[in-house]
Amino acid sequence: MCGIFGCVLHEGAHAAPIIHSALKRLEYRGYDSVGEVTIDNDRLTVKKDSGRLEEVHAKYNLDDLPGPVGVGHTRWATHGRPVYENSHPLVDCKSRIAVVHNGIIENYLEIKKELEAKGHTFQSRTDTEVVPHLVEDYLSHGMSLEEAFRKTVNRLEGAYAIVLTSAEQPKTILCARQESPLVLGLGDGEYYCASDFAAFLPLTRKAVLLDEGEMAVLDPKGVKILKLKNAAPVKREAITITWDPESAKKQGFRHFMLKEIHEQAQALRDALRTEQVYYDQFSRKIIEADKVFIVACGTSYHAGLVGSIALAKIAGINARAVIASEFSEEALDLVTSKTVVLAISQSGETMDTLNAVRDAKAKGATILSVLNVLGSTLMRLSTVYIDQNAGPEIGVASTKAFTSQIAVLLRLAATIGRKKGEVSAKEISELENALHKTPALIQSILNTKVEDVKKIAEECDGASSVCFLGRGINVPTALEGRLKLLELSYVPAIAYPAGESKHGFIALIEEGFPVIFVAPNDDTHKRIVGNIMEMKDRGARIISIIEEGDEEIRNLSDRVIEISESLPSLVTPLVYVVPLQLLAYYLSVIKGHDPDYPRNLAKSVTVE
Ligand code: M6R
Repeated sequence: MCGIFGCVLHEGAHAAPIIHSALKRLEYRGYDSVGEVTIDNDRLTVKKDSGRLEEVHAKYNLDDLPGPVGVGHTRWATHGRPVYENSHPLVDCKSRIAVVHNGIIENYLEIKKELEAKGHTFQSRTDTEVVPHLVEDYLSHGMSLEEAFRKTVNRLEGAYAIVLTSAEQPKTILCARQESPLVLGLGDGEYYCASDFAAFLPLTRKAVLLDEGEMAVLDPKGVKILKLKNAAPVKREAITITWDPESAKKQGFRHFMLKEIHEQAQALRDALRTEQVYYDQFSRKIIEADKVFIVACGTSYHAGLVGSIALAKIAGINARAVIASEFSEEALDLVTSKTVVLAISQSGETMDTLNAVRDAKAKGATILSVLNVLGSTLMRLSTVYIDQNAGPEIGVASTKAFTSQIAVLLRLAATIGRKKGEVSAKEISELENALHKTPALIQSILNTKVEDVKKIAEECDGASSVCFLGRGINVPTALEGRLKLLELSYVPAIAYPAGESKHGFIALIEEGFPVIFVAPNDDTHKRIVGNIMEMKDRGARIISIIEEGDEEIRNLSDRVIEISESLPSLVTPLVYVVPLQLLAYYLSVIKGHDPDYPRNLAKSVTVE
């Protein structure tokens, strides 16, 4: 989704190249247009266009914009196609005020009509453009810039993070947020605002969180936070971001996604380091709840499905996983003040997940969350949260976040299982021990199986579709393999519980159709062998992820990837998903796509 970065630097400094680098760090969010504005000698200069950052830079040279104050934006189109006119920044009639925005202004048409009637002319089809014009209008009534901005933002309905610069106060940046992310950075006499920490991580690790319904004024004197409603000043302590700026770079890997796949062993070790006290707090709330819902989107939802099965199997907890965008339809009526909603989100900014959480919270539910970005909106909405500790995930396709989410959820299920005595202490210890073995096991896949996966990817190139099948705890693994493959290679893919495939999907099978089985040697083994035979008999090309030494499935398969150790069933998704991530990555590369920036997708989806 849109990325924002603004900076107020020392007198004489040059903001443009700093904005350019910050926008580069925000590219992973997904975008289709780019723009920058800087102020020098009381004049705004804007450069913008549709296209990738480096394309727009090659066309206009973004780095020669003059002055120490400026704002940059990467836009992911919602209102108005990705063309020059709709790119941000957008300006007022006299080009004295420039605004960038992330989110959606729901009542923009009404405001636009009102302003057009007063003689304002609009250049774009965006909702954003009402903001500079409305500020211009209030300024013409003699208001200060700060007051005009505050009044404008208070008229907006919807979700937004807005940043404004103006020739009226050339050393100042004003910003505000409601539901869309915006954080502030404190440098040495220099100040930043951005959609996320990654943008200013190499400049400062000192950050201040802006809450919903707040605005901030950045100028050479510092940062001032005010309540949008009544301009009351807000005092807020700075926090220190622990992420290492190096970890947000590619470090020799061709793509962020590949680097993040390779980081999984470490990410898991870090995730498993979270103190037990947080799991105990989660457990108490879950055990006391009348109902438990897990809400999430995409990959995080698949992790939620694993969590739901694990909670049922070893903790005796019925926790239904619901796709966040369907939560209000499917589950909200059931929520009471005794309900627990467990939200899972890498970014902590996914609008559908936040909406589900807000709806449940309004009914008094307790919000628990598993998240990877401290300071995110989800963290602030939660009663208690567990930090996945996976480090920055830049690739649009989620990988290390998935495995560390599962590790957290399994540890949670084990904690509750132990407390409730649902399964034997021996079983729980086996699971916990196996969890601690997974980093080494993943490392061994990465060390020894990449060439085998590449071969499978080459063979899948040309297939019109690919199917993923699994059973039990590995139905979510199959779903995740499918999501990775289709979002990166654009090959339509299918995933099913293997047992369900004969109720319809099997009609698609013809000679050579690739069917990938996630088939560990657990108590689903016998039945999955039956499913493999059903597919094989109809000509499917069988690719199986199996435990080493599983001769039965090996003999039925055209290709296998072997996992060298036997694991308790519940832990297998964590490890068996890794070859599927690699498969999606290599198929995307073979097809000439960029796995870090799949078309039409954004890293954090901050609109409904
Ligand atoms: O930041 P979140 O975990 O809330 O993101 C949820 C989904 O948008 C995300 O997992 C998405 O499906 C990824 N593209 C999957 O690779």
